[in-house]
Amino acid sequence: MEQDIERVLISEEVLHEKVAEVGRQITKDFEGKEPVFVGVLKGCYIFMADLLREIKINCSVDFMAVSSYNGTNSTGAVKINKDLSSDICGKDVIIVEDILDSGVTLNYLKNYLLVRQPASVSIVTLMDKPARRKADVYADYSCFEIPDEFVVGYGLDYNEKYRNVPYIGVLKREIYS
Ligand code: IMP
Ligand code: MG
Repeated sequence: MEQDIERVLISEEVLHEKVAEVGRQITKDFEGKEPVFVGVLKGCYIFMADLLREIKINCSVDFMAVSSYNGTNSTGAVKINKDLSSDICGKDVIIVEDILDSGVTLNYLKNYLLVRQPASVSIVTLMDKPARRKADVYADYSCFEIPDEFVVGYGLDYNEKYRNVPYIGVLKREIYS
C-alpha cells in the first residue's frame, strides 16, 4: 500500500493542527447559529470526523453521495447517488468536501442545495487545487492549497484504494498512468 506513495505532502501532525484551527474559526463564525454540516461522501469521512470534533456549537450532520469522477479525470457529469435525509430550508448549510479540483462537483452541489432555500451555504474543503479550476466556485474555508498533483490518503482514494493512509501523499505516477 504505502509503497505506492511517492512522498508525503501533508503529515498527520500538520493535518490535525490545521483542521483544528479551521474548526475553531467555524465555531467562532457560526456562534449563535446551529449549522448543518453536509459531507460529500466518500472522500470527506476522515476530515469531517476530525473537523466536527473541533466544532463547539450545536450542529447537525448529513451526507450526500455524488459521483463525477473516474480514476483521475473528471467526466464533467455529476450524479446524485444519495440525497440529504433532512430538510435544510432556513438552515445554515456547510458543505464539507475533501478536495476542490475543477470545481464542477461543488458548483453543481451548491446550486442544487440553494434551490431548497437554506439561510446560507458555505463550503469547507480540506484541499484546494486552484490551478485546475473550471467552474466559478470558491471555498469559504480551505485548509490547504496544493499543487496540481494527484493525492490520496486521509479519506481520499484512487479507484477506492488508499483512503486508509493516515496522511496526504502524492501517488506514484506509474500507479495511474
Ligand atoms: P471536481 O468536481 O473536479 O472539483 O472534483 C472533485 C472531486 O474529485 C473530489 O471530491 C475528489 O473526490 C476527486 N478528486 C479530485 N482531485 C483528486 C485527487 O488529487 N485525489 C483524489 N481525488 C481527487
Ligand atoms: Mg469527493
